Amino acid sequence: MKAVVRDRYGLPVVLRVEDVPVPQPRAGQVLVRIIATSVNLSDWEGLRGWPAYARIGGLFRPSRHILGSDIAGIVESVGPGVTGFRPGDEVYGDILSMVGGFAEYAVAPAHALALKPAELSFAEVSTLPQSGAIAVQAVARAKPGGRMLINGAGGGTGAFALQLAAAAGIDVTGVDNAGKLEFMRSLGATEVIDYRVTDFTRTGRYDLIVDLVARRSVFAYRRALAPRGTYLIVGGTMRALLRVITIGALVGALTGRRLGVLAVKQGPEHFAQLAERCVAGDVHIHIDRVFPLPQVSEALSYVGEGRALGKVVIAVDPSST
Ligand SMILES: NC(=O)c1ccc[n+]([C@@H]2O[C@H](COP(=O)([O-])OP(=O)(O)OC[C@H]3O[C@@H](n4cnc5c(N)ncnc54)[C@H](OP(=O)(O)O)[C@@H]3O)[C@@H](O)[C@H]2O)c1
Repeated sequence: MKAVVRDRYGLPVVLRVEDVPVPQPRAGQVLVRIIATSVNLSDWEGLRGWPAYARIGGLFRPSRHILGSDIAGIVESVGPGVTGFRPGDEVYGDILSMVGGFAEYAVAPAHALALKPAELSFAEVSTLPQSGAIAVQAVARAKPGGRMLINGAGGGTGAFALQLAAAAGIDVTGVDNAGKLEFMRSLGATEVIDYRVTDFTRTGRYDLIVDLVARRSVFAYRRALAPRGTYLIVGGTMRALLRVITIGALVGALTGRRLGVLAVKQGPEHFAQLAERCVAGDVHIHIDRVFPLPQVSEALSYVGEGRALGKVVIAVDPSST
């Protein structure tokens, strides 16, 4: 099969298209013929080996040679003990723990997969598992009538989270670069902030801050929180993460606020309901660009350099995407 492989961490030039053996499913696993894979910031982080948490499992060299975690495709075969799926089923899911989605076939744990709704295309459902699960769990922490801020809201996760928050009656502010302000407004942000011009930790008091790209000190985040407010880091630098876990917990406890990590739970129970809302037309899927499999490096650059509005998809089988 064709796959986009790498042997070391680095810029997209380390990627190459190669013929590799088709993986075989073990007990509890499913072999999926991939039609589409969406790109997440976690793929870019895994490629670069930065922030440091992206090197878990391979400190100096990556242990996983094929990236790509949000897959959509057709079940080719199932391993021993799998009863929920059979060959021919149309499925999608997040295989972040195994990766391997930038390829014609990938193995997935059966528990990570859901059946694809017939109303959505493979490209559309491939955008949902990781970004959707984060967005659903982030917005679930907000209270109606409260003020929420999402830092990094113009990308894949933010595009879902802004819509979910607005639909729930939450006053939501989106922070991203100037090129994404109109996009965030169109998704339901009541206020938008260009992070290159304005420091959101000085613009107001928020009841909930969800940070997809944390870079700041815990004291800055604390300043931006209303009394009893909550700051949750989802992604960002290792330094910011460590500070939140250590000093942040203490600062929060001393000042009647909470600073912590949103450890996102994966699996269909966290994204399948979002798919239903997309089918119903309540939530829209924004696919900025679709790249063919040999152009995974261009697609990763496009996301990693922050140019994507919403999601970017790899059409592994363009005839069925
Ligand atoms: N906690 C968990 O369990 C868990 C699980 C899975 C994934 N994650 C993490 O969740 C995050 C998901 O991100 P995503 O896929 O939604 O990313 P994305 O699509 O790349 O969106 C991130 C957005 O943030 C913007 N940005 C970059 N630097 C910024 C800054 N300093 N201030 C404000 N905005 C900034 C980017 O645009 P520009 O670069 O152009 O500015 C981009 O629009 C990733 O960090 C991933 O590692 C966490």
